[in-house]
Amino acid sequence: MFRCAAVVASLVLALAAQAAETVYLETLDLTKMRQGYGQAQVNQSIREKPLAIAGKAFEHGVGSHARGELWVALDGGSDRFSASVGIDDNAGGAGTVVFQVLVDGKLRFDSGVMKPGQAAKAIDVDLRGAKLLLLLAEDAGDGIAYDHANWCDARFAVSGTAPRAVDPPDDQKVILTPKPGPQPRLNGPLTYGCRPGNPFLYRIPCQGTRPITFSADGLPASLRLDARTGIISGTAPARGETVVTLHAENAAGRAQRSLKIVAGDKLALTPPLGWNHWYAHYDRITDAMMRQAADVLVSSGLADVGYSFVSIDDCWMNAERQRDPLRVGPLRDDQGRLLPNKHFPDMKALTDYIHAKGLKAGIYTSPGPRTCAGFCGAWQHEAQDAGTFADWGFDLLKYDWCSYGEVCRDEQEPEKLIKPYRLMADLLAKGPRDIQLNLCQYGMGKVWEWGAGIGGQSWRTGGDLGFELSRIFEIALRNCELRAWNGPGGWNDPDYVQIGKIGNAGAMGEPKDGPLSPNEQYSFVSLWSLMACPIFYSGDMANLDEFTLNILGNAEVIDINQDPLGQCAAVSPIDDQSFLMVKDLADGTKAVGLANRGQFPKTLTAPWRLLGVGGKQTVRDVWRQKDLGAFEDGYTTEVPRRSVLLLKVAPTR
Ligand code: GLA
Repeated sequence: MFRCAAVVASLVLALAAQAAETVYLETLDLTKMRQGYGQAQVNQSIREKPLAIAGKAFEHGVGSHARGELWVALDGGSDRFSASVGIDDNAGGAGTVVFQVLVDGKLRFDSGVMKPGQAAKAIDVDLRGAKLLLLLAEDAGDGIAYDHANWCDARFAVSGTAPRAVDPPDDQKVILTPKPGPQPRLNGPLTYGCRPGNPFLYRIPCQGTRPITFSADGLPASLRLDARTGIISGTAPARGETVVTLHAENAAGRAQRSLKIVAGDKLALTPPLGWNHWYAHYDRITDAMMRQAADVLVSSGLADVGYSFVSIDDCWMNAERQRDPLRVGPLRDDQGRLLPNKHFPDMKALTDYIHAKGLKAGIYTSPGPRTCAGFCGAWQHEAQDAGTFADWGFDLLKYDWCSYGEVCRDEQEPEKLIKPYRLMADLLAKGPRDIQLNLCQYGMGKVWEWGAGIGGQSWRTGGDLGFELSRIFEIALRNCELRAWNGPGGWNDPDYVQIGKIGNAGAMGEPKDGPLSPNEQYSFVSLWSLMACPIFYSGDMANLDEFTLNILGNAEVIDINQDPLGQCAAVSPIDDQSFLMVKDLADGTKAVGLANRGQFPKTLTAPWRLLGVGGKQTVRDVWRQKDLGAFEDGYTTEVPRRSVLLLKVAPTR
């Protein structure tokens, strides 16, 4: 009897196995696959070559790239998933990938770190009854360069509903922040640095229904305030500190806030905030786009929370060769003076336009003969170009290493790394305007250790983030390790905020929705705020949707970034996928981040002892601008996948 039942059962299984149909992974909708570079390929590698792992060729499969992520709805219809995974033989570099398979949130396969040339690892996972499959090709901790991740011969044995590639579970763009009220809310830094006697320009950031009438108590005599626009202009006062009380009043109410003007050697007492064209427009940038960005910075309300720089990146000069003939022409005039290309008919008129709105203008060049995109650089014209930028009225210079390596080959490190930046910083400091210097050399020679000392106001801490967007958590963790070198006057710069509509850095494409999920987009700005680093939005200002605007324009989030202490958060690891960030604020309270970079929601705790506080503390959800209550000992909550929960913790009154 017993034997008979067993025979029947195995017959049923055998029949089911026979009935099971094979569905290859590559037949699913691969546009749903998120990955750090390029687009998933059918039956070929990410480089569009035949699939091969350690000399073994595969007819079927998906060529992808770390960090890769594909969610598959199974609805209980699949019996098994099998595949052979590894790095494609054509990757041509030292890529490393960790392949993982998760079934209904549980890890069912982990390849460990896989290297090029390593034989494929076999996956064979039971899916009976399962609802949701997640395939991951993770960066193995060394960046995603050359991480060509192959899912070869990847197939489902299907006996019911066919598997479907689906969007990740948290794909809804939820607007968390309430709209600002009609009454005035004064924002912006509490301290502001300027050099005595130089031109002064400051637009008071203030939300609320216009018209608003602005006034100020204690304004130095050399400055005047336009009561209607809230723009303070004039000449920076003599060396010293002046505390000014700013007032704003409209039909709905009034507000006041203090601003300490510090006239001395230091600029950028808080991290610069603004917009930079690079990741939206690349070599398509024009004068009209710059003006439009300035317009939108004001009309969108971003200037009202403190964004003030409108910065041109590369490609505004002439090149010897370029796909756009209007960007080809003489590099300099017969006096050696740098010439903008035909898309920039009048640089002074452009900065006048930006300044008339109370905003600041940024420009870009390289210490080398050519910029990274092949346009005219400053080499052997440094003093002349610094003078030109001042004449034109710029307020910030991004100085990008690019081709400098070609002209300093015989020099010794670290001096050869420092020399061009010291030269430009000295020239700018002696000049007639306050021009902030951004050292863009990708973190070489531990620039954070000497960037401020030689007169820079910010320095890139790594390569172009546009190529590493899937690693924003890891980039932030690395940047936090440099927190000792971050503070008023000198800022670690992990590169621009890329949310909303951005171009694809690899292809310099037209702006469209970027690869980050809504949660990751919130996390981007949470991290940049907690790190007290420059926030330059680098998406398309002509297509700023409400969701993106809500993330960029939360005044309380920006307040954390602009806190006068200028402290970058300290990180305490919780486990390998989650960590706590704590940033001391000038008023004695704490900004806290609970970060979960894993694929599933996780319950995390911010214990008061790790914040250095005790007793009852009021916890505020900064994105929702809402108090969550008073808590003893700590605060515990569920953090969504790939998210940073941004909190403010203050003693309960
Ligand atoms: C480098 C920089 C980028 C951008 C481009 C312009 O890659 O790191 O931020 O300025 O050059 O060519």
